[in-house]
Amino acid sequence: MKVQFTETVLRDAQQSLLATRMPYEKFKGILETMDKAGYYSLECWGGATFDSCLRYLDEDPWERLRKIRSAVKHTKLQMLLRGQNLLGYKHYPDDVVKAFVHKSVDNGIDIIRIFDALNDLRNVELCINETHKAGGEAQVAISYTTSPVHTLEAYAKMTKQMKEMGADSICIKDMAGIMGPKEAYDLVKAIKETVGDLPVDLHTHSTTGLGPMTLVKAVEAGADIIDTSISCLSGGTSQPATESMVYALRQLGYEIDLKDDCLKEINDYFKPIKNEYLQSGLLDPFVMETKTDALNYQIPGGMLSNLVAQLKAQNAMDRIDEVLAETPRVRKDLGYPPLVTPMSQMVGVQAVSNVLAGERYKNVSKEITSYVRGEYGTAPGPMDPEVVKKILGDEKPITGRYADTLKPGIPDAKKEIGDLAKSEEDVLSYIAFPAQAEKFLKKRKEREDNTAKFTITEM
Ligand code: CO
Repeated sequence: MKVQFTETVLRDAQQSLLATRMPYEKFKGILETMDKAGYYSLECWGGATFDSCLRYLDEDPWERLRKIRSAVKHTKLQMLLRGQNLLGYKHYPDDVVKAFVHKSVDNGIDIIRIFDALNDLRNVELCINETHKAGGEAQVAISYTTSPVHTLEAYAKMTKQMKEMGADSICIKDMAGIMGPKEAYDLVKAIKETVGDLPVDLHTHSTTGLGPMTLVKAVEAGADIIDTSISCLSGGTSQPATESMVYALRQLGYEIDLKDDCLKEINDYFKPIKNEYLQSGLLDPFVMETKTDALNYQIPGGMLSNLVAQLKAQNAMDRIDEVLAETPRVRKDLGYPPLVTPMSQMVGVQAVSNVLAGERYKNVSKEITSYVRGEYGTAPGPMDPEVVKKILGDEKPITGRYADTLKPGIPDAKKEIGDLAKSEEDVLSYIAFPAQAEKFLKKRKEREDNTAKFTITEM
């Protein structure tokens, strides 16, 4: 049996370990080798890379993608997209989503991994359809979580619907790194029994130390693709190591196309880069450790550190046990949303507030109110009616698809950004991250004006 690999070093690994601060210049020298290595795909765009390009790296994310595409001629390029939220945290109108998907494929993406934080498939359907219209491959992802409503049957049903919507492959996305080997085995088996002809990809993180075991059991259950990172930027909050997984799976008799000499070259290339980030402090050794607290509390590692930070800021670390007990209660009240961005932050803030205010739901954030109103989609399970009443009063939650209530976004954005935008891609950057994109486009214009002046003087 054959197992294929998606390499994450250019997106998730550097996002998880280096706060997404790797500029194109740092990795351009290894792209041609990566293209020869035999990967199923290179995850290299989307997620936080887009924001980081504009905010910190003074890079045009679209140009980065075009450059990667011109160096990587054979291997599929993959991106991560939060469904109707695109690369942000709010729902965008349909015209924006359509244009964004088309431009992603036009500029070089082959596979778009699409997910919704609540697994509300109404929030991924448009992306799937548009990916196909643009000529791309739609990999639809489950946001993995555990709860009484997240049963194997529920997940199997979800993947059946994904297939009906046109998914080309299914990804199990364990973004919090909480999935154990048995859960992986059972879930992959259940999905394979439901949508057997679609490739299944497992994405996890090494945070709790379970990652490599989880991947092996997933493969045993029939997973076709696994997500890994080249070893020097693997482990901890990143993915399990590519080379170790290749070694172990080959030993177990699986057929793997990856070329060992290329993998060595790739790892040797990134080693000094990793050291630079360690020295500059951007890579904190803390994120590379194995942390098992997440297993005891059933709370993702990142969320746990957020809760601690909030309590420290309010000088209330003595209340941590109460907050840890309150967090699963809030999650239950809200119908068991997966604890992934933005839900993990929203649930965490609410749990802290419930404990410190001395009254549950006395203070409620704008985001939780929108969630209860149905603006993020349908909650996975039923919400507590009394909590809903306390938050919404007599207001009725919406049941339709929230994006249907939004007016088109491109015409206004075009007007607002004006001449600074030289392309539809620029307009989309502005819609996605208005302040950061405007700053970037102004700087770009200054650079261009200076070059123009310089050229004239020279003549
Ligand atoms: Co991830």
